[in-house]
Amino acid sequence: MTDWIKVAPVDDFPPGSRRVVDVDDVPVLVINIGGEYLAIEDVCTHDYSSFDDGEVDGEEIICPRHGARFDVRSGEALCAPAYDPVATFPTMVKDDAVWVRDDRWD
Ligand code: FES
Repeated sequence: MTDWIKVAPVDDFPPGSRRVVDVDDVPVLVINIGGEYLAIEDVCTHDYSSFDDGEVDGEEIICPRHGARFDVRSGEALCAPAYDPVATFPTMVKDDAVWVRDDRWD
């Protein structure tokens, strides 16, 4: 289990914005979607690209490299050329900041 990593103050993380943070050497993309903070590994399962500024469409993100779509809440790959899901991570708001951690090894 990793510790909670501070992503950003809530005031600096409005809806529609995103941050990438390092969680024990794992790049994690946190996106504010309508006031909810959703987090996925920032590595596309098709060919390991970062999602960078890939378009967010509702709760889906589109990989900017070849166009695969992923459900940001579940991590599910929604269309080719990606078939495997991306990891998702829990977030929380505490002390007026957004936090994330990697719970895959709990
Ligand atoms: S690297 Fe993401 S769709 Fe190919």
